[in-house]
Amino acid sequence: MCGIIGYIGNRPIIPVLLEGLRRLEYRGYDSAGIVFLEDEEIKIVKTKGKILNLEEKLFNDFPKKAKAPGLGHTRWATHGEPSDENAHPHFDCHKSLALVHNGIIENYYELKTKLIAKGHKFYSATDTEVIVHLIEDFLNQGIPLKEAFFKALKELKGAYAVALIHKENPDFILIGRNQSPVVIGLGKQENFVASDIPALLPFTKEVLFLNDGEVAILRKDQVEIYDLSGNPVARAPYHVTWDIASAEKGGFDHFMLKEIYEQPEAIKNTMLGRIDLDKNQIDFSQEGLDQKFLEGIQRFYIVACGTSYHAGLVAKYLIERELGLPVEVDIASEFRYRNPILDEKTLFIGISQSGETADTLASLRLAKEKGAKTLSICNVVGSTIARETEVVLYTKAGPEISVASTKAFSTQVLTFVLFTFYLKQLLFGENEKKQKIEALIKLPSQLKIFIEKVHSKVKTLAQKWYQAQNALYLGRNILYPIALEGALKLKEISYIHAEGYAAGEMKHGPIALIEEKVPTVILAAKETGIVYEKTLSNAEEVRSRRGPIISLVTEGAKEFQKISDEYIEVPLTFYEFLPIFYVVPLQLLAYEIATLRGCDVDKPRNLAKSVTVE
Ligand code: F6R
Repeated sequence: MCGIIGYIGNRPIIPVLLEGLRRLEYRGYDSAGIVFLEDEEIKIVKTKGKILNLEEKLFNDFPKKAKAPGLGHTRWATHGEPSDENAHPHFDCHKSLALVHNGIIENYYELKTKLIAKGHKFYSATDTEVIVHLIEDFLNQGIPLKEAFFKALKELKGAYAVALIHKENPDFILIGRNQSPVVIGLGKQENFVASDIPALLPFTKEVLFLNDGEVAILRKDQVEIYDLSGNPVARAPYHVTWDIASAEKGGFDHFMLKEIYEQPEAIKNTMLGRIDLDKNQIDFSQEGLDQKFLEGIQRFYIVACGTSYHAGLVAKYLIERELGLPVEVDIASEFRYRNPILDEKTLFIGISQSGETADTLASLRLAKEKGAKTLSICNVVGSTIARETEVVLYTKAGPEISVASTKAFSTQVLTFVLFTFYLKQLLFGENEKKQKIEALIKLPSQLKIFIEKVHSKVKTLAQKWYQAQNALYLGRNILYPIALEGALKLKEISYIHAEGYAAGEMKHGPIALIEEKVPTVILAAKETGIVYEKTLSNAEEVRSRRGPIISLVTEGAKEFQKISDEYIEVPLTFYEFLPIFYVVPLQLLAYEIATLRGCDVDKPRNLAKSVTVE
């Protein structure tokens, strides 16, 4: 949700900013802009649209004398439509300050009114512009820059990650954070700032995370961190283990396809160091998840958004079935604005790939206030949600760049499988059967074979159905969340209207949609104890209304083969592993259909990865 990059050092500034922006584009692509110094003046180049447009603009009129410090921004519009004027960086009346921002300033209207009354002229319709004018206003009162920056931040209500440069102080960049992510990259005689780690990977793997209510002063050879009262804060650097190749397309046409194909490796990493084969046990104790932490826990509250929410729904089926303990799953934006009943006997579990989603973070803070114990399942190491929970279980999927989440989902699901097995050991002294643990170990290789095999089948299927206007996805039990996820994937990247439903709910409304041109994707699994026959009856109901059926069923489920127009076989496996297999053809189907429809798969319209606003 908006990406920020900043640099101070001796490298040519424009390539650094563009490189960083390209790696942040998944956070928003409504407009892009950069600022740097040229002949000791602030020079801003910005434009509506993707980074490619900005690159073209720079190519046509390349600023040869551009120098650091510089900032870059890629925007996901909140206040003010995508346009050249609303693109960041924003500047003050005298163009001596330039600022980029990620977040929303809730009291911007009030501040803007006051500033206009004082004679400030605004050039954009954004909330961001008030920040730079506010700082200018303090400078006009004779207050030195750093103090003016602190004072301005204290007046802001809402979420922000901001970076500011001043032409009269070219030896530092000022950075502030509240509820929007900021990571500082450390180099030799150079330093960086960004919204996310992938932007820093070409330059450094040593990073510092800024917390809410902190300010950083970034110089070439030094980084100082303060709280908003001006007290210095010590912060240890963190070494990032992700490598640069993991944040590049590596020969695939899109990040999404690469990330679908990375799932076997990703789930292998999720298991790494967490399985004791000799004892047939799972071990999360190194991560702080132990008997003491779980003492007294009687129920679970799982909260997340979007795809991560669907992983939470899978977890409900797993935990209730295996542990017999109650689980509530909620959408974060709902959870935070009602009165959820939590206490110290509740374990709150926040799931978030990015670890920065505003609603999930706010839910976590609410759960803490209400006295619940907290655990998160995150992908991005050092992210805010990860840092603010008592225990964090990392999914270890590597950077997920495509806006549509794929490998994050399968690793979240696998983390919950391991979590459930582990809790069974801890709470009831029950180990999983050797056979199941062995199947778990084989899962990555089995999944790899399956992805390769199923892809060509899905391609043929996509050719046939890519012009559909509507689609239904049905499943029961642990495959119900997968139906929801399949529908979400299709709609978000191909813009085909798709609905996911519990198969048994179809007759309570959605059945009215069924006709010859509306395909229904039905998920069913035989011999795993999950209402196979009932799902078959639902398929018959679709069939008798002439609805085309695309079925995904476990090997040898002949009954489905007979009544389906299209048929995909999924390996027969243990109940717990079904979601990981079933989601893959649905991810591929969405991908292939979106590609055939000419959609921008990695950057679907109106979306952005990492939703740091409400
Ligand atoms: C869909 C998708 C989103 C995210 C959601 C939560 O493909 O990616 O629905 O799952 O925005 O994001 P995280 O997991 O980062 O909290």
